[in-house]
Amino acid sequence: MSTTVYISRDASALALGAERVARALAEQAQRAGADVRIVRNGSRGLFWLEPLVEVLTPAGRIAYGPVQPEDMPGLFAAGFLNGGAHVLRIGDIEQLPYFARQERLTFARVGVTDPTDLADYRAHGGLQGLQRALELGPADIVKTVTDSGLRGRGGAAFPAGIKWQTALNAAGTQKYIVCNADEGDSGTFSDRMLMEGDPFALLEGMIIAGLGVGATRGFIYLRCEYPHAQRTLEAAIAAAYAAGVLGADVLGSGRRFDLELRLGAGAYICGEETSLLDSLEGKRGQVRVKPPLPAIKGLFGQPTIVNNVITLASVPIILARGADYYRDYGMGRSRGTLPLQLAGNIKHGGLVEKAFGLSLRELLYDYGGGSATGRPIRAVQVGGPLGAYLPESQFDTPIDYEAFAAIGAMLGHGGIVAFDDTVDMAEQARFAMEFCALESCGKCTPCRIGSTRGVEVIDRIRAGVARVENEALLRDLCETMVNGSLCALGGLTPYPVLSALQHFGDDFRQ
Ligand SMILES: Cc1cc2nc3c(=O)[nH]c(=O)nc-3n(C[C@H](O)[C@H](O)[C@H](O)COP(=O)(O)O)c2cc1C
Ligand code: SF4
Repeated sequence: MSTTVYISRDASALALGAERVARALAEQAQRAGADVRIVRNGSRGLFWLEPLVEVLTPAGRIAYGPVQPEDMPGLFAAGFLNGGAHVLRIGDIEQLPYFARQERLTFARVGVTDPTDLADYRAHGGLQGLQRALELGPADIVKTVTDSGLRGRGGAAFPAGIKWQTALNAAGTQKYIVCNADEGDSGTFSDRMLMEGDPFALLEGMIIAGLGVGATRGFIYLRCEYPHAQRTLEAAIAAAYAAGVLGADVLGSGRRFDLELRLGAGAYICGEETSLLDSLEGKRGQVRVKPPLPAIKGLFGQPTIVNNVITLASVPIILARGADYYRDYGMGRSRGTLPLQLAGNIKHGGLVEKAFGLSLRELLYDYGGGSATGRPIRAVQVGGPLGAYLPESQFDTPIDYEAFAAIGAMLGHGGIVAFDDTVDMAEQARFAMEFCALESCGKCTPCRIGSTRGVEVIDRIRAGVARVENEALLRDLCETMVNGSLCALGGLTPYPVLSALQHFGDDFRQ
């Protein structure tokens, strides 16, 4: 009988050598005459343990990590195919506090199943949400999503149910479901992990969205920098068509849903939903003036739902378990769970899916284990390159959309980037303006011109040129950008700049 061994094919694991480990394992097994079946799964999201190898034994899955190819002879000698003792033996990964304390709803299957095996997906609860949706009418599907309290996970946290209701009510000859898989924010990787580790969950969420609003066509807009996600999605879409999950007769229901994968060309602004739609239409990605909302007039002028990967992938469990099940997690108006991503100067980087409500401090220390350098964490940027920098005094802020807004910050896509006390926050502020100047779509003046002027003003402040006057000018410029920009790129860039100035002002005066 063969032994099943799991080695991740997630990009993070591959970057740490998982491919070489899989090859070494296959070679060693051949030499030892052992019958081994290697499953390339998604990552469990504990990056410091990658490449992680899990062996399926009668006592459950036993993990070893981080494994290098040269460890293979020793692992075989230690009888690791039977869960034998070894210095790299971790045991049951789900018992580690980092994992055990999480609430994995959206990521329940990531790192567990074979990402492109539909039978494995079904065996782990997959397609139950879709089956339930097929029993409900569109209005009840939308009501379930509304009642769950799910808000968009792409950044703006707009209630998904309201958006779906708008599209359901809108008249159109061809409605669309568009998945925003551009994932441009620094320090974020949950979309990628989900697509590489459990792509069927996204597909299922999109089909349910289609049934909910009356759309029969969908597009996944994927950033081209994600070749592994691309391959996994292509395989999953092909498998879903072959099994009749996608296509003219979804699960034998007579309902149609077709899905295509499209690649972006690498512009940050193409993650903004209206630029994304322009890009999907084959144009240069530029922000559209709203209204009209995409839910009323979106792709090719038709009613279109644009939702983030995590938003859509959270829908199947909501339909399968009911709105209340999901809604019971979280606090205030932030319901359900958020897959948080710990990155930057952090000891235990990775994915932590938790109900809203835990504090930033718990995340950084109880999960992250403090900085990787061992020095004090001085600042944290939450929510990508447009997020504010938070000082230590704000680390007790709960992970909640409203609590973050109250301190002038945002949760965004849940990316958390930590910096130790060697960081130069004036340099970080400069980078925010520089990033905006590079990525601006150029449509409006405060962003296009303001960001370049912002870099210059910060340079003058740092050089000690008319510091007081230039600081006042910088604040003035930021105010203009916040109030005068057409979209959140120009409108939010001042947040990292002003928060750096407010909390780390000394760094500008060296
Ligand atoms: C400059 C900019 C970049 C954005 N990039 C992304 C992105 O990469 N992925 C994403 O899901 N949303 C991104 N958004 C948010 C989208 O415009 C939109 O709000 C989101 O796709 C809606 O989906 P949701 O409601 O499920 O979050 C970006 C917004 C702006 C202003
Ligand atoms: S704020 Fe910047 S990115 Fe947004 S529309 Fe204006 S120029 Fe384009």
